[in-house]
Amino acid sequence: MLIEDNLIVEFKKVSKIYPPNIPALKDISFVITRGEFVFLTGPSGAGKTTLLKLLFRAETPSDGEIWVDGIEVSSISRGQLPFLRRKIGVVFQDFKLLQDRSVLENVGLSLEIMGYGKKQIEKRVKQILNAVGLKGKENVCVAQLSGGEQQRVSIARAVINRPSILLADEPTGNLDKQRTKEVIELLEELNAMGTTIILATHDESLFKNTHRRVLFLKNGRMEA
Ligand SMILES: Nc1ncnc2c1ncn2[C@@H]1O[C@H](COP(=O)(O)OP(=O)(O)O)[C@@H](O)[C@H]1O
Ligand SMILES: [Mg+2]
Repeated sequence: MLIEDNLIVEFKKVSKIYPPNIPALKDISFVITRGEFVFLTGPSGAGKTTLLKLLFRAETPSDGEIWVDGIEVSSISRGQLPFLRRKIGVVFQDFKLLQDRSVLENVGLSLEIMGYGKKQIEKRVKQILNAVGLKGKENVCVAQLSGGEQQRVSIARAVINRPSILLADEPTGNLDKQRTKEVIELLEELNAMGTTIILATHDESLFKNTHRRVLFLKNGRMEA
């Protein structure tokens, strides 16, 4: 039982075929332990983004089961989706920030939607900005920030609800070497505080010296 409780992600024989008939993932099975930091890699088109999308149900599997923190993702109702999404933070290569809004507005948006008051939001946003190295930037417009800073804002937004899992899809794809290093270090810090992290990247330099587990995808199949 203890071992089962420790699993935060489990894929059981998962396949994904996009219409009309494009196989993206084939018979994928693996587990991730609570608190792990896992790299997901493979060439472009291997199925990395699809796998992450299945986890937060931006896509649904064609076959198999996907368990996230005790929830079978493909069987839950639309009404239960916010409950799943609250467990998962997502970071994208292109940040997906509202460029004409402030850092505070971007990072605090989900709290606003959840009905938190202005004071509470400001307090929590300031805390999280300190944690990601953006102290004092809350009123700066996102468009004014560098790429590295924007990725920090998007990481802050992803973790503001204290999700149990953080999914990062090519989070360093638009960053130079130094900014890449800083983002990886930040993800390491979040992991040390208890967040399970799945980082999808085609960039082998990110994990070539890592002691972390690396999951390899090729043509939609996971290699042992
Ligand atoms: N929305 C979609 N509709 C149809 N095919 C898709 C869609 N998204 C991805 N694919 C295809 O699924 C395969 C895996 O893509 P993807 O998950 O984006 O791989 P990766 O992130 O590793 O580059 C590719 O063949 C891709 O063309
Ligand atoms: Mg991708």
